[in-house]
Amino acid sequence: MNEWLYFASCQRAIHVREKLRVVEAGEALRRAIFRNVHESWGGELLVDEFVARRLRSPHHSRARWFAGLIAGEPVSSLGWFPLKLSVCGRLLNAVGVGAVHTVPQWRGRGFASQLLEHVLAQARQEEIAVALLFTEIDPAFYERFGFRCCNARVHTAVVNRPVKLPQQFLFEPIHPQRHLAWIKRVHERFHSTLQLHIHRDSDYWHYWMQRWPVPKWFLLRHKASGQRAGYARLRARERTLLVEEYGVDPDAAAAEPALFAHLAELARQARCEAVSGWLPPRPGLERWFHAEPRRSCIPMLAPLQTDIDAKPLRQSCHFWMSEYF
Ligand SMILES: CC(C)(COP(=O)(O)OP(=O)(O)OC[C@H]1O[C@@H](n2cnc3c(N)ncnc32)[C@H](O)[C@@H]1OP(=O)(O)O)[C@@H](O)C(=O)NCCC(=O)NCCS
Repeated sequence: MNEWLYFASCQRAIHVREKLRVVEAGEALRRAIFRNVHESWGGELLVDEFVARRLRSPHHSRARWFAGLIAGEPVSSLGWFPLKLSVCGRLLNAVGVGAVHTVPQWRGRGFASQLLEHVLAQARQEEIAVALLFTEIDPAFYERFGFRCCNARVHTAVVNRPVKLPQQFLFEPIHPQRHLAWIKRVHERFHSTLQLHIHRDSDYWHYWMQRWPVPKWFLLRHKASGQRAGYARLRARERTLLVEEYGVDPDAAAAEPALFAHLAELARQARCEAVSGWLPPRPGLERWFHAEPRRSCIPMLAPLQTDIDAKPLRQSCHFWMSEYF
């Protein structure tokens, strides 16, 4: 079908919306989708290697994939990541929308829009309360579908001199599996102060631990008693120590500033120039970190049911770097 009609009388082209057929992808179609998105997210990997990695990745296998087809071929695609959000202690079913993509030669014809509309309608039918995404492009594109930006900041501490470490704590690398039950408990208690965050049930923890298996984990302990007071999940990228996530036991006095001091010193010893992360709004944070609005990876929320008021949720939510999809 010729999708452009030309009207000589008014001298302009009118774009006629071509209808996509949207389907949920089985394995063969997933392969085709992953092949298509290689041009956007494949980096240095060869196409076959990239597709194989996506097929076996815990993150991508956990998602449902949807494709928009033209003449039976996928031209647009996205991932549906099942999530639960904890909102003031109440659990809401949510869909994480990720990897929205249209094959370059098919862009600008409304295909990603049709696919998103279809998937959000399906989520409403499945009584999903909220949709969440992290945008890498101008948020205006997603605002058309009811998404609005959340408060999103990046925190950075420049590291240029030795840090005075508090005497009562040790900070040491750990194998997280050995401390997982404790980490889970601390995560839950630490996050209960945030109005909205991603809830982790045991399935989600299992997935999240395998999702990116390379980070380094550290534990903050009381020197005298050996008691655990906090944890951090870290990664070094170029000359920056990234704090993908941390948590402190709310009962451990002075643990949080001690953790920040140890992070700064660890970064200095690793010859990093800065410590950086998407940190939650915590008292005293500004003593250590400078905060700036994020320019990319901005979380956006859309309510999918009429009883959800997304405005207060957007202001009070927090998502870690480790939760990005
Ligand atoms: C973003 C993308 C999915 C849009 O697909 P599409 O099928 O062309 O989208 P639609 O035709 O439904 O809508 C087109 C609109 O997308 C918006 N858009 C496209 N690329 C954009 C970008 N980089 N930044 C902001 N908006 C963009 C424009 O507003 C455009 O509107 P216009 O046609 O009036 O100019 C596609 O450009 C793509 O695959 N980009 C690479 C992957 C990517 O960055 N995905 C987004 C991750 S958050």
